[in-house]
Amino acid sequence: MQIRTAGEDDHAGIAAVLTAAFAQPDEADIVAALRDDDADSLELVADHHGRIIGTVMFSPASAELSDGRILRGLGLGPVAVAPGQQSKGIGTALIEAGLEHFKPYPVAFFCVLGEPDYYARFGFTPAIERGWTWQADDGSIPEIRDAFQIVIPRDLPSGTGIVRYHPAFGTG
Ligand SMILES: CC(C)(COP(=O)(O)OP(=O)(O)OC[C@H]1O[C@@H](n2cnc3c(N)ncnc32)[C@H](O)[C@@H]1OP(=O)(O)O)[C@@H](O)C(=O)NCCC(=O)NCCS
Repeated sequence: MQIRTAGEDDHAGIAAVLTAAFAQPDEADIVAALRDDDADSLELVADHHGRIIGTVMFSPASAELSDGRILRGLGLGPVAVAPGQQSKGIGTALIEAGLEHFKPYPVAFFCVLGEPDYYARFGFTPAIERGWTWQADDGSIPEIRDAFQIVIPRDLPSGTGIVRYHPAFGTG
């Protein structure tokens, strides 16, 4: 199994993995919209003898701090591994390769919406612990608040922040 950057020839395989893993076409549509808008900052695939069995996307996100500053970061997701290939370390390999790729770059933060038990292993912590929220979170669903997590690779001044994903996610 090889983790590599996605190319155009992989798009159908990526859509198939996303649709199967999420049991709906929405995430494949988001990925296509990100590509159309050149917002596919990094798209990786897990390739097993020419077959796509996993995928991860990183796209631009921004955080508006309480003092009005705007920070540039990256949203992680969607990430998916083909049903039948899950729990073999493929998702971990994809996410770790993506985070490693960006190490030389001044990314202010990474954000993800997902299961805290899974993303903690990559250093993600609940954003709310730092006073950061996701723009689509109105506070009415506590599970969403807990699921929104960030990694801040370098020192940042404290202060609350509101994170916005790319509009392709349809979250305002
Ligand atoms: C979530 C997903 C990408 C993880 O990839 P994977 O290759 O199956 O996972 P890995 O092999 O790297 O890691 C396996 C570990 O993750 C845990 N795990 C997998 N999915 C999980 C989830 N949704 N919630 C909590 N833990 C999860 C497993 O229990 C296992 O734990 P362990 O290491 O303590 O045994 C994959 O299971 C998937 O495609 N799921 C459906 C789509 C999805 O939910 N995507 C994430 C939301 S953006």
